[in-house]
Amino acid sequence: MAPSKKIGILLSGRGSNFEAIADSIAAKRLTAEIAIVISNKADAPGLESALRRGLTALFILSKGRTREDHDAEVIATLKHAQVDLVCLAGYMRLLSPEFVRAFPHRILNIHPSLLPAFPGLDAQKQALDYGAKVSGCTVHFVDEHLDHGPIILQKTVPVLETDDEHSLAKRILEQEHIAYTEAIGLVLSGEIEIQGRKVVRKK
Ligand code: GRF
Repeated sequence: MAPSKKIGILLSGRGSNFEAIADSIAAKRLTAEIAIVISNKADAPGLESALRRGLTALFILSKGRTREDHDAEVIATLKHAQVDLVCLAGYMRLLSPEFVRAFPHRILNIHPSLLPAFPGLDAQKQALDYGAKVSGCTVHFVDEHLDHGPIILQKTVPVLETDDEHSLAKRILEQEHIAYTEAIGLVLSGEIEIQGRKVVRKK
């Protein structure tokens, strides 16, 4: 049997998407291995939960360093762990071009809106304030621009008149947890390819 593919997770906070990925692997919904978890915040709850799960988990300081300097250390750490795929899971940093080039078409991100609508911070509040009737989440390949690369999959969530940003974020998050596992499975299956902006099934 082929060895399972190695995933590197980058996070900055709560880490519920990381937990959902780890749970999917444990439940065999996803065939992969989390080789390393890296946080740029020492007090990220996600880092704590990775350690509790017995995973290799590291804090790599970003504050006060140039993006290039910090990214170089993160890249070296991910390469050393021999990861096949890098998953951003609430990683609150824009990646340098060097980082994106170090893992071509091998970096995924999840965003809590239907991109290209509402990129950046507070996407759920942006959707509410705009009056959108439907929002959701997007898993996409990462390029050098924020919340921009080719879309792997999206899940929709209705915006209710009774919603505030917390209730909407909660319902979107439930879909994020399903979507990230599905998207990783698709990418690791080798059955999809990128054609320009489009992610399509290989013929
Ligand atoms: C999620 O909403 C994700 O879409 C966004 O940041 C949030 C991270 O949440 N990129 P968590 O740390 O995975 O719980």
